Amino acid sequence: MSCAMSVKHLYSSIIMAGNSFGTLFRVTTFGESHGPAIGCVVDGCPAGLALTHDDVRRELARRKPGGGGAATLRREDDDAEILSGVFEGQTLGTPIAVLIRNKSARSADYDELRDVYRPGHADWTYEAKYGLRDHNGGGRASARETAGRVAAGAVAKRLLAEHGIAVRAWCSSIADISAPAEGEGDFEWEEAERNSFRVPSRESAARIMQKIEELRAIGDSAGGIVSCRATGLPAGLGEPVFDKLDALVAHACLSLGAAKGIEFGSGFGSAALNGSQNNDTLVPASSGGKSFAGNKAGGVLGGISNGMPLEFRVAFKPVPSISTPQMTVARDGTARNISVKGRHDVCVCPRAVSVVEAMTALVLADLLLQNRCSRLGERQGARHGE
Ligand SMILES: Cc1cc2nc3c(=O)[nH]c(=O)nc-3n(C[C@H](O)[C@H](O)[C@H](O)COP(=O)(O)O)c2cc1C
Repeated sequence: MSCAMSVKHLYSSIIMAGNSFGTLFRVTTFGESHGPAIGCVVDGCPAGLALTHDDVRRELARRKPGGGGAATLRREDDDAEILSGVFEGQTLGTPIAVLIRNKSARSADYDELRDVYRPGHADWTYEAKYGLRDHNGGGRASARETAGRVAAGAVAKRLLAEHGIAVRAWCSSIADISAPAEGEGDFEWEEAERNSFRVPSRESAARIMQKIEELRAIGDSAGGIVSCRATGLPAGLGEPVFDKLDALVAHACLSLGAAKGIEFGSGFGSAALNGSQNNDTLVPASSGGKSFAGNKAGGVLGGISNGMPLEFRVAFKPVPSISTPQMTVARDGTARNISVKGRHDVCVCPRAVSVVEAMTALVLADLLLQNRCSRLGERQGARHGE
């Protein structure tokens, strides 16, 4: 291979590897589900941000599968080690590396997947792409990888908190059971942190528990929707035209396994509305600034935050690894019947809540830093009502 060819080859493998996300606040995750460890490297976090192990551990604990009748049987008592980039409780401005050791791997559960491909999972596509794959626990296609994202998101959340920005996600539906919307029924924010389904309604959580147990008993799975809201955003975040706020959040969230759709504000419902119904009219704010009468835009206009809360929903498909027998094909091309073993989630949504928050925080932290270059002089866009 000539020198020019090898440099081109190397360059294309770097830009195609797809394990990094972000422009100024940039995260790379590494590791396979059943390897020794997984983790992340966050590059571009400004120096002087207060950050402790506990900030990272707290977020990882929120991602941890709940116990009992929750949507997963796996126990992941993650402990994160911050290897670099933090000194005496403050970020150094250098890369922040976080290591999370894999302690709960049970590779024997996956022996039968060495030569067969699970319907609905990434086994076949990884092999088609790379010519080989780590079949243990789904390797890099496992949701275990998202622990690295959550650790990186913890850093982003700390940065956002310094700017008065908070990101909160919750499960708004699992299978055919929807939680009431905010202000309706028994909706309660605290309930979403209390029950293991992350549903803001006690009554809905009880019905979901029953549904999950029914599905588990017959070896099947469910999908659901994770809703997310970021508050305290200034107007002006988002880079036209390819790095729009909504486009980047969609990229971030659709990069999660099993995520199949996203909608902002009135979303797909807006297609059936008239303009006069869908427009959020501008109104004078009490503080003398500008605000909006509603939030059908989900906080984004022209790909730029408008000072209202960023609001969106992500749809997740049912977990593909199910013990219900299904037909598939083995490596040698013969038809096989497969019943997937292992401690798989019945629904990904409860664990996806903290991951959606993390991915949103990563996008917002990145855009916040990029926004510092958008015009001369000091600038902070108006928040809702300012
Ligand atoms: C938080 C989370 C947990 C997941 N848990 C499981 C699981 O236990 N078993 C499984 O087969 N897939 C699980 N998935 C989904 C797979 O990762 C995903 O379906 C697979 O990588 C194929 O990607 P695709 O569904 O986007 O095509 C999970 C996804 C997320 C985001």
